[in-house]
Amino acid sequence: MENKQIIKALFWSSLGIIFFATGLFIFGIFIVFQSIKPPTIQTELKITKQTSSLWQSPDIKHINQGRRTLVEYGKELIVHTAKYFGVKGIIGTSTNGMNCQNCHLEAGTKAFGNNYGLVASTYPKYRARSGTIENIEKRINDCFERSLNGKPLNSNSREMQAIKAYILFIGSNVSKDNEKNYKGLSMKDNQIKFLDRLASPKKGKLVYEQKCQSCHQPNGEGVWNADKTEFIYPPLWGKNSYNDAAGLYRISNFAKFVKYNMPLGANHENILLSDEEAWDVAAFVNSNPRPHKDNSKDWPKIHEKPFDHPFGPFADPFPENQHKYGPFPPIQAYYAKNNKK
Ligand code: HEC
Ligand code: HEC
Repeated sequence: MENKQIIKALFWSSLGIIFFATGLFIFGIFIVFQSIKPPTIQTELKITKQTSSLWQSPDIKHINQGRRTLVEYGKELIVHTAKYFGVKGIIGTSTNGMNCQNCHLEAGTKAFGNNYGLVASTYPKYRARSGTIENIEKRINDCFERSLNGKPLNSNSREMQAIKAYILFIGSNVSKDNEKNYKGLSMKDNQIKFLDRLASPKKGKLVYEQKCQSCHQPNGEGVWNADKTEFIYPPLWGKNSYNDAAGLYRISNFAKFVKYNMPLGANHENILLSDEEAWDVAAFVNSNPRPHKDNSKDWPKIHEKPFDHPFGPFADPFPENQHKYGPFPPIQAYYAKNNKK
């Protein structure tokens, strides 16, 4: 009797163990199978979507021959602006000798490189700087008059039409509906943390000496090519640089641009400056002398002035110096609280 019970117990427990082991075995095979199975279509789609979210410009090769000539001329004018309008320009000598491409990198196609990807889908648009709805020609001439410290082009000129055709082509794969799917359009994704102190020209000078002056030179005036038709290294201040009404004269624009693009070779995956270095070098560069442009008509609605526009009057109690060097968070907090922006 006792023996029978022991045998029965042994029988049931070994049966249990066998069931358990078989279950474990099948489960193991299932796991191995899962991991070597090729990805399903759904996961493949996900992967493509992730990598394609970095914006890339369309290729000029795909435009038909007729229109291509104008678009290619537009690109040539962006890349070699100075050859046509610089100090020895073949059309006129109406600019400081910089090329549009010096700031709109890779002919305005580099992601996070101040590219033209968003222009076609957003203009005409209201801009607070002029207080008006601006078309593309007006925006292009803004850079001619400020960044290139020069004269505007005639809107009907072949050169303006070519630049416009090129910029529209560059943004032709971006629309209001899909722009959120792309990263790195314009400079809107160039993120940078605010400092809770003033940006320091003194610290920025050290950054400049270590990381910038080998190309842009100790005097900030860059390096011309042999026949002085274009810059090899463009100037950051001095008489051939952008004037004090230009976008880069606002230190947040400067800091965001250089963080993602300088020293030469940097990009959004290979950032070579800390946020602090970017702010400080921006403060240093924009403390040096440069051409002046009357900007008293800019930002006609003063409560729309950006926090780092360093010229009063302001719709807030902060001094010009704080609008130039920061700290900016208190200014932003003021507007958030007073709901004036
Ligand atoms: C010194 C640097 C610099 C140079 C040179 C320069 N730009 Fe710009 N440009 C900027 C900056 C900075 C902005 C963006 C300002 C902002 O976001 O507030 C800008 C904006 C623009 C925009 C509007 C982009 C948008 O998404 O709204 C256009 C169009 C433009 N530039 C065209 C040109 C053309 C054409 C030239 C050459 C004639 C040129 N730029 C030369 C710095 C420059
Ligand atoms: C290895 C050389 C090199 C170094 C180092 C370098 N740059 Fe540049 N930088 C260039 C070149 C070349 C361009 C123009 C790019 C083009 O035309 O494609 C440029 C363009 C610029 C521009 C826009 C055009 C202008 O002249 O206003 C700014 C601003 C700038 N650099 C700032 C900096 C700062 C700040 C540093 C240091 C943190 C730096 N660069 C380091 C080569 C360099």
